[in-house]
Amino acid sequence: MKNYLSISDIDNLSEWVKEAQKLKANPKADKKLGADKTICLLFFNNSLRTRLSTQKAAMNLGMEVMVMNFGNEGWALEYGDGTIMNQNTSEHIKEAAQVVSQFCDIVAIRAFASLTDKEQDEAEVVLNGFKKYTSIPIVNMESSVGHPLQALADAITMEEQKTKVKPKVVLSWAPHPKALPHAVANSFVEMMQLQEADFVITHPEGYELNEAISKNTTIEYDQKKALENADFVYVKNWSSYTDYGNVSNQDSNWMMTMEKLGSAKFMHCLPVRRNVVVEDAVLDSEQSLVIEQANNRTYAAQIVLKKILESLS
Ligand code: CP
Repeated sequence: MKNYLSISDIDNLSEWVKEAQKLKANPKADKKLGADKTICLLFFNNSLRTRLSTQKAAMNLGMEVMVMNFGNEGWALEYGDGTIMNQNTSEHIKEAAQVVSQFCDIVAIRAFASLTDKEQDEAEVVLNGFKKYTSIPIVNMESSVGHPLQALADAITMEEQKTKVKPKVVLSWAPHPKALPHAVANSFVEMMQLQEADFVITHPEGYELNEAISKNTTIEYDQKKALENADFVYVKNWSSYTDYGNVSNQDSNWMMTMEKLGSAKFMHCLPVRRNVVVEDAVLDSEQSLVIEQANNRTYAAQIVLKKILESLS
């Protein structure tokens, strides 16, 4: 495998999940695979889980790790071809990507959506800029439109927790004071489309995700109806896609509560705002899987890095 940029880079999901579970049982089993190899983690945005779990995964595989908070510490990059760079950008992606390639064997990148320019966000200018000019494999640590490492960790978590072959899974929008990207929801939807599940998305009208991603997934605008008989409830906020980046609804009635959750398992990628997105009682209950999801981020990253390292050797 050359790159892990989206869910479509997974060639056999059930096999990957099984392999990740094996790694979880014996994390250092492939300690020699990454010897003398270096991964560079470039963060254009904040992180807790992605940063530590990807670093941990690389260390479990015996790799050296370099981390750079590019957003705060790197030169402002220019992505346009032929730009006269007499404004705010200091370095072109052409040089930056080639330079990074000289220092490491794999580069992992986090670069969120701006939520101000839909066309630019959908073009994935940072990820695709590196893809175009780097000579080494790239891992997506959350881009404008996807968070495939999170979705793979979610698939591992659901496989561990499910009690029936075809569970009912509900992706429920929740209120949030800020405009958040669509990446986590997008990748979760794509992941669910690969799974055997009765999958429903619920959100207020106007919060439809990109139809090119949601495709023919059932959308139920009545949250209560959507949650009936759910086995897993995945809660996430996202801003409007059609009215790009806008927050037109902060209705606290959409917050997840214990009463609404019933007997379902609760999932969220974290970080989460308590008593805005979900009430304390849910997060503090036995039904919450959020800590296990975060734990599985290591094994999702580790299976991805393992496959890339195998393709390098
Ligand atoms: N879920 C997730 O990606 O967490 P961080 O933003 O903290 O990395």
